[in-house]
Amino acid sequence: MKFSRIFILSFICSLSVVGRSTSSPNVRTAYLQESGGSTGLLQTAGLQLRGSTGMTVQLGSRSEALLRRRPTLFVPPISEIPPLEPSPADLEPAPALVDARPRFRGEYDDEILTKLCSLQVKSIRPLGGGSSIKLRVMFTDGSQAAVKPNQLRITRYQAEVAAYKLAKALGLSVVPPSCVRTFTKEALQANMPKDLRERMDQELVVDDKGNVKTAVIQWVPGLRNIKLEQADWWRPLLKQGEPIPSGKHKRIAEISTLLLFDYLLLNFDRWSGGNTTEADGEMIYIDQGASFGPDKKHGHSRLMLKTLKWSERFPRSIAQSLFQLDLPALRSDFGDLVSDDEWESFLYRVEHARAYIRTLKKQYPKEALF
Ligand SMILES: Nc1ncnc2c1ncn2[C@@H]1O[C@H](COP(=O)(O)OP(=O)(O)O)[C@@H](O)[C@H]1O
Ligand SMILES: [Mg+2]
Repeated sequence: MKFSRIFILSFICSLSVVGRSTSSPNVRTAYLQESGGSTGLLQTAGLQLRGSTGMTVQLGSRSEALLRRRPTLFVPPISEIPPLEPSPADLEPAPALVDARPRFRGEYDDEILTKLCSLQVKSIRPLGGGSSIKLRVMFTDGSQAAVKPNQLRITRYQAEVAAYKLAKALGLSVVPPSCVRTFTKEALQANMPKDLRERMDQELVVDDKGNVKTAVIQWVPGLRNIKLEQADWWRPLLKQGEPIPSGKHKRIAEISTLLLFDYLLLNFDRWSGGNTTEADGEMIYIDQGASFGPDKKHGHSRLMLKTLKWSERFPRSIAQSLFQLDLPALRSDFGDLVSDDEWESFLYRVEHARAYIRTLKKQYPKEALF
């Protein structure tokens, strides 16, 4: 009897000692151990980090008690941490392809260019629409291209190719790749209707060997005119404060990018008709033949800035590209497609486009870029 009283008394005492802990003894022993060494102590206002052996957390007055007992956060040794378990094969996402090579409609530009610039021509036909002299060639492998020869008016073959190079430098993949090729006038004229032959006689620029330089431009199947110049729904959506309906975001981004692209190129022939096109729901920028050219005292550039200002917001990605444009690399890529005067005028527009976007960002910090 006496023995059982002593046992009960000592049991109650042991319970009251354990009861002082505010956390469950099991949890406490699992996560908080008595501190070992004191290497690498870092102390800030309310936080103490202890080095390799563990962590002491100090929070307000309660932390003083903790500090006295010097508890540390238990971190298992590296050897005991299980390696990442791979997810089942069917849940594993495909490895991300980090492939910065430019593409046009799914095909690598350099592969397109290899063909465009070297394949043998099988046939040449007239290409209707528009007002310049242009042709449609078929290569021996069945692929096709639009061809704009060097001519005295309306279009400049150099501008078409330079525009593609600028698009590539800006990271835009909506301008069909193109390159310069030379054909004999004879080959270009063969099989043309009489009126076109006569026009070619008058307007083609032919060298003394009978050759004509041309821009050979990747053919875009299913290209269709979207006649944006005849629609007005998009104009207010380029303005600040105007909410863009969710279904219109992509098209507004394409239009504002086009306005910036044309400004840089000094292309004033976008809105005269027939020069806004799409294929498979994506805008394709064609007909940049009116770009560059003379810009006395930047008069044309100043005029074009008004058209750029139709848009008061731009996709963030194109704005970034504009600021990151590698100008020396672009100058060398342009080569003699762009004269020194045209380059100087282009630099003026780069500077003013950047200034315009900086101003928009100041005026409308949240909306200028989308
Ligand atoms: N690369 C191309 N792929 C498919 N069609 C094209 C291509 N280039 C031009 N075209 C067709 O030819 C038409 C006139 O071309 P464009 O470049 O606008 O010539 P222009 O300088 O005479 O205005 C376009 O509207 C389009 O229908
Ligand atoms: Mg045109």
